[in-house]
Amino acid sequence: MKSIAILTSGGDAPGMNAAIRATARSAYEMGVKAYGVQEGYKGLMEGKFIELSPREVGGILQRGGTFLGSARSPEFKEEEGRLRAIHQMEKAGIGGLVVIGGNGSQTGAKTLTDMGFPVMGVASTIDNDLVGSDITLGVDTALNVALESIDRLKVTAMSHHRAFIVEVMGRDCGYLALMAAIAGGAEAVAIPEVDTDPETIAFLLHEGWDRGKRNGIVVVAEGAKYDAEALMAWFKENKTNVGFELRAVTLGHVQRGGAPTAFDRIMGSELGARAAQELVRGNKGQLVGKIGGKIRLTPLAEVAGITKGPDLELLKLAGALAL
Ligand code: F6P
Repeated sequence: MKSIAILTSGGDAPGMNAAIRATARSAYEMGVKAYGVQEGYKGLMEGKFIELSPREVGGILQRGGTFLGSARSPEFKEEEGRLRAIHQMEKAGIGGLVVIGGNGSQTGAKTLTDMGFPVMGVASTIDNDLVGSDITLGVDTALNVALESIDRLKVTAMSHHRAFIVEVMGRDCGYLALMAAIAGGAEAVAIPEVDTDPETIAFLLHEGWDRGKRNGIVVVAEGAKYDAEALMAWFKENKTNVGFELRAVTLGHVQRGGAPTAFDRIMGSELGARAAQELVRGNKGQLVGKIGGKIRLTPLAEVAGITKGPDLELLKLAGALAL
């Protein structure tokens, strides 16, 4: 194999740049040229390749996001779009592709492999819903950003005897919300995997108030049965008194934009390097992730279209510690 391409797809995740840099530099070390694909699968269909020499990927390690750009591409879901993408790579002499992204991106990677083009995936999404990696690239940074916000909200909440409903991202997965609740010492948490009624949240907040707490934090996953907006509407409609004055904050994309933590830089470096090595050695159709602290390869067929949730034992811990 003389050249490989690297693309980032779906929602950006802190640490993607570390993975791009490691993939490109490892390829170079093996005497293989690396090309970056701009704007994910959309750019792949349009043949938007830029050469990534070791110098070209300098200075990006500490930056959040993806310097290649990312996009969600409906055209790539059609066979015609995928054939166009393969044609573009063949025309440019590219013999393999590394896809850095989450579930939708890895589904695309699997389809390309099924069509005969060698692809390796790198597990990357802030949602942590991907099978094949205990933790995915970007989660650590996103969680720390959420946590910093919760800590700040607690400070102002304490001054005013308020409770905050804090909505975090995660799509249909409650991992980020649950971990942020434990690490942030929340009074209540609502995740998509378990239905939590507003009555329960009101009860938990009121209990905290009765116990003399000076603030309350409720962490809600965006995919929960009641997100922050729905909860606020419920509280307003029912005129429920929880003691605290209630406010809501949606963190949203703020969580995705952080500079990658040391953990994400190291993980991106490890996964990117391994993906390049495997691809050049002739491996394909695998996701590179970390299981039990070790780099592991999982067939994309066992990853695509399947999601995982958080360990629900931790939900009990969150409840038990909210005394
Ligand atoms: O998959 C990552 C993620 O940030 C989810 O947590 C969120 O639901 C979604 O992407 C938001 O997508 P977009 O950036 O396209 O609005």
